[in-house]
Amino acid sequence: MLSNNEMLIEIEKLKKEKDAVILAHNYEIPEIQDIADYVGDSLGLSQIAGKTEAGMIVFCGVHFMAETASIISPGKKVIIPDLEAGCSLASSITGDQLRNWKDENPGAVVVSYVNTTADVKAETDYCCTSSNAVKVVNAIPNDKQILFLPDKFLGQYVKAVTGRSNIKIWDGACHVHEKIGDISFDKAKAEHPNADYLIHPECGCSSSCMLKSTMYDECKNIHIFSTEGMINHVNSSPANEFVIATETGILHRMKKEAPTKEFYPANEDSICEYMKMNTVEKLYRSLKEEIFEVKVPKHLADKARLPIERMLSIV
Ligand code: 13P
Ligand code: SF4
Repeated sequence: MLSNNEMLIEIEKLKKEKDAVILAHNYEIPEIQDIADYVGDSLGLSQIAGKTEAGMIVFCGVHFMAETASIISPGKKVIIPDLEAGCSLASSITGDQLRNWKDENPGAVVVSYVNTTADVKAETDYCCTSSNAVKVVNAIPNDKQILFLPDKFLGQYVKAVTGRSNIKIWDGACHVHEKIGDISFDKAKAEHPNADYLIHPECGCSSSCMLKSTMYDECKNIHIFSTEGMINHVNSSPANEFVIATETGILHRMKKEAPTKEFYPANEDSICEYMKMNTVEKLYRSLKEEIFEVKVPKHLADKARLPIERMLSIV
């Protein structure tokens, strides 16, 4: 049995031997982030999966992310260290449920957050992520009815920012972000008076936070961002303290990129057990044995590719 350090050395060797690239989401455990070739948000990782010249993609994220990489790069082998790494949000709508919703709303344009299964993407007109959802919706003619899914909080946020009334929103949520309810700004402000507040749009508090940030001067330091948007903000903001409302795995990268700044999780129990399923041991085994392959059947991948490509062209 190899030690953790020996496995990390082997992973570096195997990566070269097998012409593999390791992609890791911002919520992965620190050791996985540190050994990855790219760490990023859903959108950034999809873009890299589409461009990489490597023959194999090892996706340290959750299943729908590996599926998305396989759909974009059908010629490449995509593997994931743990097949059980799912997503409560992606599980909140099935292809059949979407087909029924479309039947009830003929002519509507379907916008799906990228946290969805390939079956749902195949029934979708446009995919979006938390960083480009507003741009994607703005690209759809104003008179078109929109079905937005599956995240109700991101949907409410997009509806408020775009000012469109013709958006129907699916009642789905991420079990981690939903619990980040309304932050007590009075208490937080007393503890961290000069902090910037970075809120992920999947959070239960995202709509009320956005409203506060536009209404009250003392809430001007509230910002709604995707995980990569948060990283960019931390690096460019003159603030030295940040309250972070998302999965806590992201704090590792923040501390690494801005070591002189202070970071406080809005809720330190915000941990996605699916993202944490990818361990060094599983990554090592995955690369060595080239398991577990995630391959979307061609007929489904061909349908699901179009909304992803539309999304990537709007960025
Ligand atoms: P980002 O695209 O902002 O990284 O979000 C992905 C995700 O799964 C959030 O829970
Ligand atoms: Fe899915 Fe939520 Fe985990 Fe993100 S944090 S992968 S949305 S369950």
